[in-house]
Amino acid sequence: MAELKLLLEHSHDPAYRTLKGYEATGGYQALRKAVLGERQAIIDEIKASGLRGRGGAGFPTWIKWNGIPKEKKTTHYLICNADEGEPGTFKDKQLLETCPFLLVEGMTLAGFATQADVGYVYIRGEFVDAARSLRNAIDEAYAAGLLGQNILGTGWNFDLHIHMGAGSYECGEESALMSSLMGERGMPRLKFPHAPLPTVAGLFDKPTVINNVETYACAPFIVAKGGEWYSTLGAGTKNSRGTKIFSVSGHVNRPGNYEVEFGTTLMELLEMAGGMKGGALKACVPGGSSVPIIDAEACEKAVIGYEEMSEVKSMVGSGGCMFLNEHTCIVSFIWRTAMFYAMESCGKCTPCREGTKWMRQVMERIVRGNGQPGDMELLLDITKQLDGRSFCGLGDAAAWPVAAALRVFPQEFEYFIENGRSMVDSPQAQALAPSFEDLVSV
Ligand SMILES: Cc1cc2nc3c(=O)[nH]c(=O)nc-3n(C[C@H](O)[C@H](O)[C@H](O)COP(=O)(O)O)c2cc1C
Ligand code: SF4
Repeated sequence: MAELKLLLEHSHDPAYRTLKGYEATGGYQALRKAVLGERQAIIDEIKASGLRGRGGAGFPTWIKWNGIPKEKKTTHYLICNADEGEPGTFKDKQLLETCPFLLVEGMTLAGFATQADVGYVYIRGEFVDAARSLRNAIDEAYAAGLLGQNILGTGWNFDLHIHMGAGSYECGEESALMSSLMGERGMPRLKFPHAPLPTVAGLFDKPTVINNVETYACAPFIVAKGGEWYSTLGAGTKNSRGTKIFSVSGHVNRPGNYEVEFGTTLMELLEMAGGMKGGALKACVPGGSSVPIIDAEACEKAVIGYEEMSEVKSMVGSGGCMFLNEHTCIVSFIWRTAMFYAMESCGKCTPCREGTKWMRQVMERIVRGNGQPGDMELLLDITKQLDGRSFCGLGDAAAWPVAAALRVFPQEFEYFIENGRSMVDSPQAQALAPSFEDLVSV
């Protein structure tokens, strides 16, 4: 399959960042149509479309929107998660910079469907250009009566605010994000079934929907063209519908964001990105740094779909797809990943606070050439203490890459531990190996 640009179709055109340019391509037709009908009709279209959350977990979007009380008794909130902290993922950044009205219209549709009063876009602090582009779009939408009071004469009021985060990966976790928005520390809260769902008690303990940028950006197309139409995209997969944007990086000739229909193969995605650079394909991390690494053989079989990707023991995740060539030292690569999660652990729960640091220490002594017999078993044991036993998903996210690398590339760990150096003897592997500055900083 070739690239299928739905969300990104006009992303190259600067005019698309203006209201006039957006409307010229059919923008706001969905909202104008939706406000004439029942609120529930929007949710029904989202249900028919089969849309699942693009932030990583793939949760059905309509269930969240439908979970907001129909009888309005208090303030309803809407949040867009634009934190995009997952290493390897940069598609929300491009959407915000080049297609800001898709998000504004998508959130307005979701807001109307759920009777929201206020929306927040929580943007990663470093995304200055993205925030500027979104600011312009929001200002234009207010001036045109598409945000604010009495939107399109419906009597419905909806305000949309931007909130800049401070660059913490954990603040992308939805309950930590809400804590951060409320002025608290960016740490997660208890979740369902131990606490109510955000749709019951979310931001300021009020009914709240939280979705990813790409998820909201799909809504205008679904409402304008119909959920049935959308569900024909990706129909060859078990339960993945529509398109997904993959941020392709690593050893490829043309890194960048590629939007593909579900059902596209991983090798087709690699071809779109210009194929491998500097050597043959060795491995791939298909969905962002937290998802399990797969080898070249699994890449050949991998089909892009939530269920399909699990058949090769990995995940679609947030779509941060890193292709690695034969000169990559997997041990050094995974050590860097482990270092990231150890740094980003918020420290609230013991398995993750201690486990991520311990994993980093063991990985570090291996890449320093001081690995010990039993280190592989020890690492695997630590991953088991983290996975499913941490307070939030960061603990799982830290465990999966290490556990997968031990399973798929055990010989590289064995060699490093036995010989005190990488079995990959190349300048590229050396470049990935820790520098003195790296080692003293950990
Ligand atoms: C540690 C951690 C970081 C996360 N970071 C992000 C993020 O940057 N962006 C995002 O959309 N979802 C992120 N998520 C997932 C969110 O918690 C949540 O599932 C998502 O925003 C829901 O939106 P969706 O249903 O549209 O995917 C993260 C989850 C965890 C555990
Ligand atoms: S798993 Fe625990 S320590 Fe790690 S980020 Fe979540 S709450 Fe914090």
